[in-house]
Amino acid sequence: MSRASFITFEGIDGAGKSTHLAWAAALLRARGFTVTVTREPGGTSLGEGLRDLLLHADGEIDPHTEALLMFAARNEHLQRVIRPALARGEIVLCDRFTDASFAYQGGGRGVPAEHLRTLEAWVQRGLQPNLTLYFDLPVATASRRRIADLKAPDRFESQDAEFFERVRAAYLARALEAPERIMVVNASKSVSEVQKVLENRLLMLCQA
Ligand code: TYD
Repeated sequence: MSRASFITFEGIDGAGKSTHLAWAAALLRARGFTVTVTREPGGTSLGEGLRDLLLHADGEIDPHTEALLMFAARNEHLQRVIRPALARGEIVLCDRFTDASFAYQGGGRGVPAEHLRTLEAWVQRGLQPNLTLYFDLPVATASRRRIADLKAPDRFESQDAEFFERVRAAYLARALEAPERIMVVNASKSVSEVQKVLENRLLMLCQA
């Protein structure tokens, strides 16, 4: 028997969260769980359209507009994908969620946290992830990994080291505010070492 669980994956660009999310989905499916894999911004056709604008728009977007669009996409995603999947008793694995807005729009771009808290309460109406895996590593290490990736950088990935230092600090501050929900994972370790740490935690959470 599985217990409906909402699990989010976070980290600065290059921390390896997408690799670990794909591994977690395979692990849980192999144990017989029904798993919905999704991502933010995105997860719905409106959300994917907004993602394209947010990641690839030419020119500036005001940081407050950026935050509002992230939460608009999130509301659609919650209503159409996340809440229905949880109601069916599924495990939802989501590549980024609201902690990314506190980290990138809050820490990175300077949008006041009080505005983000208002949007969080409006859109989530009390729903929080059961578990958030925050993959933490030094900004310089993440930047080396991104360069090795050879993918053309998007509007966030092309920011400088100071931006990512602020994003990382905001993630760590958020983890201190919600230590029961947010697990800080040392992403400097090898992929297999990280997965060894995560396996039990994921299986314990999802088993009814
Ligand atoms: P990312 O998840 O890293 O996808 P990929 O692995 O395909 O590059 O890219 C999403 C970007 O969106 C990332 O740089 C962070 C940003 N973002 C925000 O700024 N705020 C948010 O609320 C979310 C969900 C993402």
